[in-house]
Amino acid sequence: MAHATGDLAGGELAGGDIEAYLEAHEQKSMLRFITCGSVDDGKSTLIGRLLYESKLVFEDHLTALAADSKTVGTQGGELDFALLVDGLSAEREQGITIDVAYRFFTTEGRKFIVADTPGHEQYTRNMVTGASTAELAVILVDARRGVLTQTRRHSYLVSLLGIRHVVLAVNKLDLCDYSEGVFEAIVEDYREFAAGIGLTDVTAIPLSALRGDNVTEPSPAMPWYSGPTLIGHLEAVDVSGEVLERPFRLPVQWVNRPDLDFRGFSGQIVGGSVRRGDPVRVVPSGRRTTVDRILVGDREVEEAVADQSVTVTLTDEVDVSRGDILAADSDPPGVADQFEAHIIWMDEHPMLPGRSYLLKIGTRTVGATLAHPKYKVNVNTLEHSAATSFELNDIGVCNINLDRPVAFDAYSENREMGSFILIDRFENTTVGAGLLHFALRRAGNIHWQAIEVDKGARSTLKGQRPALIWLTGFSGAGKSTIANVLEKKLHQLRRHTYLLDGDNVRHGLNKDLGFTDVDRVENIRRVAEVAGLMVDAGLIVISSFISPFRAERDLARGRVQEGEFIEVFVDTPLDVAEARDPKGLFRKARRGELLNFTGVDSPYEVPLNPDVHIDTTRLTPAEAADLILEHLAGLPPVGPGGTPH
Ligand code: ADX
Repeated sequence: MAHATGDLAGGELAGGDIEAYLEAHEQKSMLRFITCGSVDDGKSTLIGRLLYESKLVFEDHLTALAADSKTVGTQGGELDFALLVDGLSAEREQGITIDVAYRFFTTEGRKFIVADTPGHEQYTRNMVTGASTAELAVILVDARRGVLTQTRRHSYLVSLLGIRHVVLAVNKLDLCDYSEGVFEAIVEDYREFAAGIGLTDVTAIPLSALRGDNVTEPSPAMPWYSGPTLIGHLEAVDVSGEVLERPFRLPVQWVNRPDLDFRGFSGQIVGGSVRRGDPVRVVPSGRRTTVDRILVGDREVEEAVADQSVTVTLTDEVDVSRGDILAADSDPPGVADQFEAHIIWMDEHPMLPGRSYLLKIGTRTVGATLAHPKYKVNVNTLEHSAATSFELNDIGVCNINLDRPVAFDAYSENREMGSFILIDRFENTTVGAGLLHFALRRAGNIHWQAIEVDKGARSTLKGQRPALIWLTGFSGAGKSTIANVLEKKLHQLRRHTYLLDGDNVRHGLNKDLGFTDVDRVENIRRVAEVAGLMVDAGLIVISSFISPFRAERDLARGRVQEGEFIEVFVDTPLDVAEARDPKGLFRKARRGELLNFTGVDSPYEVPLNPDVHIDTTRLTPAEAADLILEHLAGLPPVGPGGTPH
């Protein structure tokens, strides 16, 4: 959708003094804003109008636009500005905009980046993406329809994402006879709601984006309105102080070491300012030092402020690496590995409590698991409701656990330092975004206790190498049968073993769990924990669970030391397992009497690289057990150490 997006107009530059023009541009302040509204509120028309009025639309685009408007436009002979932004033909056909598009334009007074996000209900994620860096939101309302559910939803998101400045753009007043009464009623309605969600800086402007009323020029059709035009307000609104007043934060993006004499730390300042000689602290290590030099590009400066990309050198040789934060010594960020956070779920697969995701906060990426949601917010009514997981576009609150401590500020204090995204480990897709509230205090009060009799001592006493033999496959695949034979053989070899079996564990430890994806993840998480403890006790553990998801099998693998986990794929094709159907469960599932049955209406993710692959259509259970024993015998000894318990 690039065709309407230009930061500098060719026409203006032609024949002019390019250097001076660029210099003037450089000096202007920047405002990032987001527009929220539905397809029909005239959002695309408004953005098209802003681009057009700021004279930054290329000439050839205008020619094309005039032609387009005649063929597809819905505005008679007039230019249809929506066509400027609804660039993709598929979107044009549907009449909706489906992704975030960032557009740049400038006026005499300011440079702007506008995030154009779709208003469609299911696209919360686009809006969150667009809003995450915005300082102001333009919320569009169709004057004929007034404040709608989606106006409230967008406003809630705007408030949640920490945008303090709102423009209520009451559009299409031309279709309401430019009525002051209509405008005032909508404004009153909106202000009441907005105050309830903490939006207090609201500027309401009556508009017709189509006709250009109050966009750049005051409208003669609305003499009763004496406030600013939209552009006038966007040029004047003061958003400068906000990040500058915060304590200094520089997330280190890279360590810049061109030669032995220079060691600088580069990144973008995300809070406050820094001067030469300022005392700073390296977080999380806590080392204290002083700023020696500050470079912006290759220019040396006395001071640098939020938003600037800088390289900083320090007076001491302290250890600083990528992902660390350089922070104001007097007010450093917190460091923790457990938080409460708002989560905005963006993936069509629901969030699974207990699953390990990657969490990217600033320049750091760590492993993270989410607990069961505390509640979900109904963004239309703002009511809280109970939830077992988050689904696409859900917003809610839950605790989150990291595998390493990170430096952070509460999102309300610093948006960059307090926001993160969640990434699926296998698909590498962004599945959610989060806003940190606070660290959980319990994290600081629970410590590892040193235990002197360790795994090495225990397994030496047993004369064996501990292991976790993880059987996975469909119900009816033969896992339990093979596991039993294997355990008997190990027992005869005088090995100390323990067999954890799905059906059995579900009678005790996991009797509160069913077969939804959420429950299966928790089932395997608990089993992995127990199996990990048993391996630590020096045992050879055999586990026999469907364990249908790769992520949780990997979780179990990560619970023991490298080389101790043996993934055994008990490979029985679905039709063979179904034909055997030892417990009659497939029949029940096919009749619809049993829901979420693996292979019928619940997925099974085949192991990609199992340590042992057993084709049960060709091997007897005893032969399968022998194959596993052979694998065990061929393993090199595991080194000393292990996790303390
Ligand atoms: S897992 O998916 O969470 O790993 P687990 O191995 O504990 O499953 O339990 C599977 C056993 O529960 C099956 O062998 C079967 O006997 C029984 N079962 C009952 N309902 C289901 C179901 N909906 N899907 C799969 N197995 C089920």
